[in-house]
Formats: sequence, structure tokens, C-alpha cells
Amino acid sequence: MIEVVAGDITTFRVDAVVNAANPSLLGGGGVDGAIHRAAGPGLLAECRTLGGCAPGEAKVTHAYGLPARIVVHTVGPVWQGGAFGEDATLAACYRSSLRVAGERGAWTVAFPSIATGAYGFPLHRAAGIAIATLAEVMRTDGRVARVTMVCRGHETARAYEDAVADLLE
Ligand code: APR
Repeated sequence: MIEVVAGDITTFRVDAVVNAANPSLLGGGGVDGAIHRAAGPGLLAECRTLGGCAPGEAKVTHAYGLPARIVVHTVGPVWQGGAFGEDATLAACYRSSLRVAGERGAWTVAFPSIATGAYGFPLHRAAGIAIATLAEVMRTDGRVARVTMVCRGHETARAYEDAVADLLE
């Protein structure tokens, strides 16, 4: 099941919260900054032990002060016009994040709109890739029961709602 809601991902009580991080995994702005602020310093301390993360991959930490069990850190593609494998890397973010969340027994997973902020990935294009990838993985690997796309603004939420509607057509 995939649901789309508007809100602040750091307030969602789920098994796994996905963070849109950067390759250093040492924090940043946007949702990365919000997650680190809400989780507290223990999150950064654990991130320091992970040795970074490549775009499209995902690494797991505890969730500390967040109302979740784990944080799945993934790194989206920086948008460069679409000819540098950005679509495939974004799909890999969703696939890797669901895989590692399932491996850790997470039933419910909250995702932000990966790469559509500072990384500049076009919103509707990202939403289509995200929803198609999530639906495909959840169909074949039933470990994660519910995914919540947590969108910070209504424009973003509408883009993901449209992508879900397109999938159901
Ligand atoms: N809850 C949910 N979504 C949020 C929140 C929040 N608290 N804060 C921001 N967002 C949304 C943004 O509005 C955007 O739609 O997350 C989406 C992703 O935007 P960014 O956080 O800028 O992430 P991204 O585009 O993947 O860029 C990653 O930004 O913060 C740095 O360290 C990060 O270098 C990395 C880069």
C-alpha cells in the first residue's frame, strides 16, 4: 500500500524513516537537516562510522530521537539534465531503501521526495519514478506493508498523488 500525505517526516511514527542525504552522510539542509535536528547528535555520531554512501545506495542507522526504529540514509542523483543516469539512480534509491528496510524487518516506511529539493530533480518526473519503483518492489518483495510518501508542500503531494493515480489507471 502506498499513501501520500503532506507533513514533516520527522513526526511520523513508522518503523523506518528514509533520509535524502548526501554522499558524506554528515548532515545538510532540507530533510537531512530536519532529520538530524529531530534525531539528535547520536545520529551524526553513528553516521560518521558508515564511511559515506554512494548515490542510489542506502545505509541504515538507529533513529535516536525520532519516533521510528531506524533511519535509512540514501543519496539521490543531482539533476544534470537527464542524460547522466539520473532516472536510474533515483529508482535505485527507492529500491535500495526498501530492500534494507525490509532486511531490518520494517513493515512501515516513510519516504521524502528524494532529490527534488537541493538536487533539482524535476518533481513530476521524480514522482513517476518513485511510485513506479515502490509499486514494483512492494509487489515482488512483500516484506514492507506500507509506504508513506511524506511531502512537505501541497504541490509535492499533488505530484505524488497524480503519480499514484497514473499507476492505477
Ligand atoms: N519532511 C518531509 N519533507 C521535507 C522536509 C521534512 N521535514 N524538509 C524538506 N523536505 C522536502 C523538500 O521540500 C523536498 O521536497 O524533501 C524533499 C527533498 O529535498 P532536499 O531535502 O533538498 O533533498 P535533495 O533534493 O535530495 O537534496 C539532498 O540536500 O539537505 C541536503 O544533505 C542534503 O546534500 C543533500 C541534498
